[in-house]
Amino acid sequence: MDCSDKLKKLPPYVFAVMNKLMREAWAKNIDVIDLSMGNPDQPTAKHIVDRLVDTVQNHPNTHRYPQAKGMPKFRQAVCQYYKKRFDVDLDPNTEALALVGSKEGVGHLAAAVLNPGDLALVPSPAYPVHYNGVILGGGECYLMPLLAENNFLPDLTKIPEDVARKAKLMFINYPNNPTAAVVEDLKFYEEVVAFAKKYDIIVGSDLAYAEITYNGYKAPSFLQVPGAKDVGVEFQSFSKTYNMAGWRLGFVVGNPQIIGYLEKFKSYLDYGVFTAIQLAGVAALTGPQDSITEVNKIYEKRRDIFVDGLNKLGWKVTKPKATMYLWAAIPDKFKQMKSIEFCEFLLRETGVAVSPGIGFGQYGEGYVRMALVTHDNRFHDALLRLRKLLK
Ligand SMILES: Cc1ncc(COP(=O)(O)O)c(C=O)c1O
Repeated sequence: MDCSDKLKKLPPYVFAVMNKLMREAWAKNIDVIDLSMGNPDQPTAKHIVDRLVDTVQNHPNTHRYPQAKGMPKFRQAVCQYYKKRFDVDLDPNTEALALVGSKEGVGHLAAAVLNPGDLALVPSPAYPVHYNGVILGGGECYLMPLLAENNFLPDLTKIPEDVARKAKLMFINYPNNPTAAVVEDLKFYEEVVAFAKKYDIIVGSDLAYAEITYNGYKAPSFLQVPGAKDVGVEFQSFSKTYNMAGWRLGFVVGNPQIIGYLEKFKSYLDYGVFTAIQLAGVAALTGPQDSITEVNKIYEKRRDIFVDGLNKLGWKVTKPKATMYLWAAIPDKFKQMKSIEFCEFLLRETGVAVSPGIGFGQYGEGYVRMALVTHDNRFHDALLRLRKLLK
């Protein structure tokens, strides 16, 4: 028996690699401080949970197959959020679609629009599904390096003319995973829209970290640029915004034709999101938003403790304005190590688990990603352990 060539082409999944290393560490009784995965550790707000429980208990008709594209109430709530938050007008009937988490939608978009051998412009480093979705969709990736000297934005002027002409799809993601970079204003998005129009490219903007922001920074939407809806769609997730990662709920909004392709593709594969979860999503979008402020305060506190501590130890790390990640170059003392080797070494010597930059693509080499998602006390512990190694 053999698997498909597409499956063989996929690089090892970064979290699977880290999980294996952590299992080995646990087997040796190492007390692991896991900063490797961005899995929110705070609970979902009570009013959202209550809505789920009430629906499941008292409305048995919701136990049937859901409306795959998302119930009208859900799509309306999504569009109202876009109007209120970004002043973007969307038609809930044709320009919004519920997703089984945004990862599902991002991955399936590639399969819905690419033909075998079609080219997609993919950032490197990237959230892995931006790359893997293209490969699984039968396409090929042209990597757009995200470099520190360009604030981790792709330089569109460096994309060769023949590549741009051949490309059919482009992924962008700000606030960014894994680099935590942000766009300060709409300038970069304006460049993307002009580029996509010139070369007839579909844009998938991944705004999974729309609301995980600090120090007054507010993440803009790609769809705020006039004409963006002509070329692209934008994905959002309930996982980080409302601590609902396990619930599997997200959405995509924007160009109705692209949304239609994705809806059609999905209709052959899934039945959409459980109605009770969609209604809980409506409660999340339309109810009190205090939980977002609270969770951001928690991440911000951890960020300050950990970044200040690392900098004192001589490991230079910048404070991100968004996301719950730190993107750090491997400390000078260990520069000769590859990121995977450094992560193994760090885990073995200190029990601190971080993700190797290479797991997010070849331009992630030389870096590690640390997620601010473990109990506050553990960051003090991590600093104590790192001190021995770095001094
Ligand atoms: C950039 C980015 N997009 C999408 C996702 C997936 O989110 P969801 O849980 O909605 O599938 C993540 C999760 O970490 C992410 O970092």
